[in-house]
Amino acid sequence: MHKTSKFSLPHSQCTPEAHYLNRRALIAGAAGAGALFASGTQAQENPDFQINGFNTTEEPNTLKDISSYNNFYEFGTSKEDPARYAHNLTTDPWSVEIDGLVERPGSYDLGDILKNVNIEERIYRFRCVEAWSMVIPWNGFELNQLLNLAGIQPSAKYVRMETLFRPEEMRGQRTRVLDWPYVEGLRLDEAMHPLTIMATGLYGKELPKQNGAPLRLVVPWKYGFKSIKSIVKITLTDEQPINSWQATNAREYGFYSNVNPNVNHPRWSQASERRIGGGLFAPRIKTLMFNGYEEHVADLYAGMDLRKYY
Ligand code: MTE
Repeated sequence: MHKTSKFSLPHSQCTPEAHYLNRRALIAGAAGAGALFASGTQAQENPDFQINGFNTTEEPNTLKDISSYNNFYEFGTSKEDPARYAHNLTTDPWSVEIDGLVERPGSYDLGDILKNVNIEERIYRFRCVEAWSMVIPWNGFELNQLLNLAGIQPSAKYVRMETLFRPEEMRGQRTRVLDWPYVEGLRLDEAMHPLTIMATGLYGKELPKQNGAPLRLVVPWKYGFKSIKSIVKITLTDEQPINSWQATNAREYGFYSNVNPNVNHPRWSQASERRIGGGLFAPRIKTLMFNGYEEHVADLYAGMDLRKYY
């Protein structure tokens, strides 16, 4: 876990976890005391939230939180299954097939991709549709860089992505919980947005397999299920793709899946969230429109009825 690989940043260029943990301990102490007086049901504003460039100033979750409470149905449906079983996945060598409406279709070796993109650290809020959230220091590159390597044809309107299908190593794929392989999609302008990244690491280390190694999408203004893991195929198309959750239950999961406190999931409210690692008594925090990234992305949806396009 500690080796610096071709998928991650040299340690000097990234956020050391210990630095955060010290600050976090102080904040957790303060929040813990406050929680004694806070009402259990009323959601609170998050006083630590600000966006600095693209990064949030909130305290990141620990690597342990981030890598032990996961959704990755290829390894099972419980939150602990991915950490328990994902070590079986072979992630090197890895290549990504890029096809459809591109100038240079083909199989792109991950090592070659990484030589041609700019890896940065991005500290993003992550909000799951199940109403929990985390703050995650990713290492990765903007998806637009990869799409430009392949060359986008003018008729392309959407990007469709697929996860690896390898049931020998992904035990969940031996069951029919989802229709494999896992599929996700974005509108092309969403995919080209500079907030949309392909993550290759966490805290400057190689991406843990349970988090979608060696290459996973991160779209911070959308619910977490859009962040497809272990990607092996990218197709540019002129048709809106149907994602795996939509295919499973279209009434509950749509194509856009933008974080929106005003549009509830049919079975639960989306107005507030529980920050993982905040402790048992931490008050729920209010969910922000587009997960706090409204100033960056609201224009993409100008004039659209977000109740209809959920
Ligand atoms: N990608 C694949 N291939 N399979 C999955 O089951 N789960 C999604 C998303 N990407 C999933 C996936 C869901 S529901 C969430 S909330 C996030 O991954 C969880 O990412 P994390 O485990 O890194 O927090």
